[in-house]
Amino acid sequence: METKPHALVAMSRSSFEAHFDRGRLDRLDSLVTLGDPLWTDDLDSRRARRRLADVEVLLTSWGAPELTPARLAAAPRLRAVLHCAGSVRGLVGDPVWQRGIRVTSAADANAVPVAEYTLAAIIFAGKKAPFLAADERLAYGGWGSVTGYGDLSNLGRTVGVVGFSRIGRRVVDLLGLLEGTTCLVADPYADPDEVAAAGATLVPLDELLPRAEVLTLHAPELAETRHLIGAAELSRLPDHATVINTARGSLIDGKALAAECAAGRLFAILDVTDPEPLPADSPLRRTDRVMVTPHIAGSLGSEIGRLTDHTLDELARWTAHQPLTAEITAEHWASGLSA
Ligand SMILES: NC(=O)c1ccc[n+]([C@@H]2O[C@H](COP(=O)([O-])OP(=O)(O)OC[C@H]3O[C@@H](n4cnc5c(N)ncnc54)[C@H](O)[C@@H]3O)[C@@H](O)[C@H]2O)c1
Repeated sequence: METKPHALVAMSRSSFEAHFDRGRLDRLDSLVTLGDPLWTDDLDSRRARRRLADVEVLLTSWGAPELTPARLAAAPRLRAVLHCAGSVRGLVGDPVWQRGIRVTSAADANAVPVAEYTLAAIIFAGKKAPFLAADERLAYGGWGSVTGYGDLSNLGRTVGVVGFSRIGRRVVDLLGLLEGTTCLVADPYADPDEVAAAGATLVPLDELLPRAEVLTLHAPELAETRHLIGAAELSRLPDHATVINTARGSLIDGKALAAECAAGRLFAILDVTDPEPLPADSPLRRTDRVMVTPHIAGSLGSEIGRLTDHTLDELARWTAHQPLTAEITAEHWASGLSA
């Protein structure tokens, strides 16, 4: 009978506690051989090094130590790193690919709550709900008594999605729930047929901006996407448009956005900012036309269990020598296009 591969869980204590309840630990135990320690946040301790000598698969997450050449040398039998969170940046690099170690991530599962949060933000943007809630003038009358919000409606809106990424694709899909929505996508790397099959239209960013009543960002943080939405791009959005950012703060020129919102022309719902957290004196905090949440769109609380389940499913496939579904290959990594 084939023996189960030796596995070690490497992540911070809080990550371990959030990822593995009793049921999920039992499932892990059924798939692999666990030892002592079962979990560590320190791959350099003597105890961890003893385990690394046998380990064939690592389950990692937030707080996992980087897999440096020295740590990899201490794990001569390591064949797979299954990451229970989103990006593997800061965890793996060339030494991992050079060893032919397989890597997967749970970014697909992490895309679910971000897309859900974005749909909620789009619907609230249609009704201008966060901004009306913050408008002191409403203490003295109904919504009809205030001006400057444009049309308070979710019917027949045009939404511009920047980035046909994991999350961007899910957002396009969810927008099918809103009657009469036109969905435009801007992404220099997307396939127009794939975008059309998802129910949207691929257009250049320049063409998308003047039509987007809601602009939602889902591109990765890269050198080329820094301030992708700057003063010039913001000025091309229609009056009363809402900018939603659940991607990364650096994608937007925050000062230019604050100026447009303070001038009464645009609105913004931001789950991410640059820097994070936003300083108390940031101009983005000085207007009721901007709603800021503290980077909560991704998996939190019970949603973290979905990341674990996704990874345990992948582990089951790996132990059964079946194809992996969330593998990050050396080529994908080298393309530098991903989050
Ligand atoms: N708020 C949160 O809690 C949270 C959680 C997870 C991810 N994120 C962020 O959401 C964003 C999307 O994540 P993902 O996992 O869907 O990304 P991803 O890795 O799937 O994105 C890669 C894709 O982005 C597209 N892209 C690349 N460059 C682009 C450009 N210049 N313009 C438009 N599109 C471009 C390409 O289609 C590429 O394939 C990232 O910025 C990520 O950091 C935020």
